[in-house]
Amino acid sequence: MNQKGGVGKTTTTINLGHALARAGKSVTLLDMDPQGQIATGLGLSNEQGGMDQVLLAGDALDDMVISAREQLNIVPAGNMLADFEHVTNGGSSRGKKLKNAIEASSLVEQDFILIDCPPSSGLLGVNAMFAADELIVPVSGDYLSLQGLSRMMQILKRAESLIGHQINLWLVSTRMQMRRRLTQEVRKRVLKYFPGRVFSTVIRENVSLAESPSFGKTIFDYKESSAGAEDYQSLAQDLLSGRTS
Ligand SMILES: Nc1ncnc2c1ncn2[C@@H]1O[C@H](COP(=O)(O)OP(=O)(O)OP(=O)(O)O)[C@@H](O)[C@H]1O
Ligand SMILES: [Mg+2]
Repeated sequence: MNQKGGVGKTTTTINLGHALARAGKSVTLLDMDPQGQIATGLGLSNEQGGMDQVLLAGDALDDMVISAREQLNIVPAGNMLADFEHVTNGGSSRGKKLKNAIEASSLVEQDFILIDCPPSSGLLGVNAMFAADELIVPVSGDYLSLQGLSRMMQILKRAESLIGHQINLWLVSTRMQMRRRLTQEVRKRVLKYFPGRVFSTVIRENVSLAESPSFGKTIFDYKESSAGAEDYQSLAQDLLSGRTS
């Protein structure tokens, strides 16, 4: 999650998800962004519905699961997901729809459920926070991403008091151009403010990562020898072993 757009949330969900699946973990990706790029980025269709039907019509999550790769399943956003932001009935239970849907499904048996969030802080994001045990915030290497981060922290604090339990926070540096002084400065600040919470791996800006979704491929399908594949594989190891800087 990150309110800021274009920091690499979807790229990270897809490629971290595939990296974990390749490491032998069972993984399901849930697309909570109406842009629907989880399905299309994996070469699948967003048309047959998914999270929209779960959240708007109360369909079972298990009925919406599609197999994407070995050990890797997804639930697409579906075309109607944006409508969920405008749901006004249901009071405070509106925020717990995703959590309840997961707990009523066989997804609880998965090793990992990764939830891709929209670049906003509406009802979709609230549902993701309620459902999640841990939060991964991608932070890109520009100054504005630091500003986004402080807003993100306010939202997290509010969510935690609402939910009544702490959410484990992790940060990951994405889209990094380490030759740029600003990028290094941003990484340094993030490390200073969140000691022990920033994954060691730095995801570099890499053209293969930008190209792969247009072919419906993950970075591992598209170019296994790329810097992008190396970085996301390493990030998966960080996550599995809790390796931080
Ligand atoms: N490490 C990277 N190197 C090069 N391009 C990248 C990298 N990470 C992401 N991109 C590209 O940057 C753009 C934004 O990435 P992505 O869609 O993952 O961000 P996002 O945070 O999900 O955006 P949104 O807020 O719109 O959901 C995409 O075109 C993606 O292919
Ligand atoms: Mg996205």
